[in-house]
Amino acid sequence: MPDLPKRTLGRTALEVTTLSYGAMELRGGRGRDISEQQAEAMLNAVLDSGINLIDTSPDYGLSEERIGRYIAHRRDEYVLASKCGCLVAVEPTAGGPRHVFTPENIRAGVEQSLSLMKTDHPDIVQFHGSPSRAELEEHGGLQALQDLQQEGKVRFLGMSGTLPHLPDQIAMGVFDEFQIPYSALQREHEDLITAAAEAGAGTFIRGGAAKGAPSEDKAWDLGRPARPGGPADPFADGSAERFWDAAKLDELAEGIGRMAFTLRFTLTHPGLSTTIVGTANPAHLAQNVEAAQAGPLPADLYEEAKRRLTAAGATPE
Ligand SMILES: NC(=O)c1ccc[n+]([C@@H]2O[C@H](COP(=O)([O-])OP(=O)(O)OC[C@H]3O[C@@H](n4cnc5c(N)ncnc54)[C@H](OP(=O)(O)O)[C@@H]3O)[C@@H](O)[C@H]2O)c1
Repeated sequence: MPDLPKRTLGRTALEVTTLSYGAMELRGGRGRDISEQQAEAMLNAVLDSGINLIDTSPDYGLSEERIGRYIAHRRDEYVLASKCGCLVAVEPTAGGPRHVFTPENIRAGVEQSLSLMKTDHPDIVQFHGSPSRAELEEHGGLQALQDLQQEGKVRFLGMSGTLPHLPDQIAMGVFDEFQIPYSALQREHEDLITAAAEAGAGTFIRGGAAKGAPSEDKAWDLGRPARPGGPADPFADGSAERFWDAAKLDELAEGIGRMAFTLRFTLTHPGLSTTIVGTANPAHLAQNVEAAQAGPLPADLYEEAKRRLTAAGATPE
């Protein structure tokens, strides 16, 4: 079996596999009911497949604890990325913020992550929830993470960034990595991935498997109701399926398979360092590894897919 391809994660100079693992699926609780045995098997299967980067967050229930419990002894095999700003030193309130960027909350979050994941340093800590520059500077959260970096408790600073704040976050020049949502069916950050890469940052692409929606078993039904008044969700409002059909992507995916086509489309973005795909299903992990080994789509197929998607209304803006 060929090795998974690697790319350099921007100025961090870390060499990361183009397919990485999003550990949100292992959160348990109000998420999916994943047993301890399943979590242990999944995390070890991820490392056995050659994947060398795992993304998690204090917001993902049992995820960090399970990483500490089941793969801390293999810590030299993976780059570890978590998040900060999640409510650790702050009591959640109904209708209150989901992330708080005060020094106390940032520090408490990072300390908790270190303890749960049984490591003395996460490689990357990303601000969760795409805070604005003003929000970061006003509360002192950015300085707090930089102080933790000085203390050796964090190696690199990251941002889980989305519109409208992402352009400004890139312009700040302080983030070594950006986590950005993107797939063929969700292209609004396409040019910002390029901008982040051109600014020298590494990029984690999330949602690069389009949540498995095009697969035969999910068949667009992710069990999520449309959210009236919320941000457009292409999987809840049906637009992802409409884009796929209108662009006749089945014609282009013939002989490749819908999921492999989707993942390889994501991997073709020249600004991508890695895509953090989540799964709790070992068979899906194996499929995704195979797709990553096959690598980017041929240039003519990629250009044709983008042309058709744009014509169908799935545009980069
Ligand atoms: N704000 C943030 O910073 C933020 C928000 C969301 C997510 N994230 C991070 O990004 C990671 C991935 O994000 P995501 O969950 O939104 O997107 P995703 O990786 O595109 O979707 C994950 C879903 O895709 C399914 N899937 C994966 N491979 C499949 C395959 N070959 N066939 C069929 N289904 C497949 C999985 O279901 P199965 O288990 O059935 O395979 C899972 O439910 C998360 O784990 C987390 O680390 C960050």
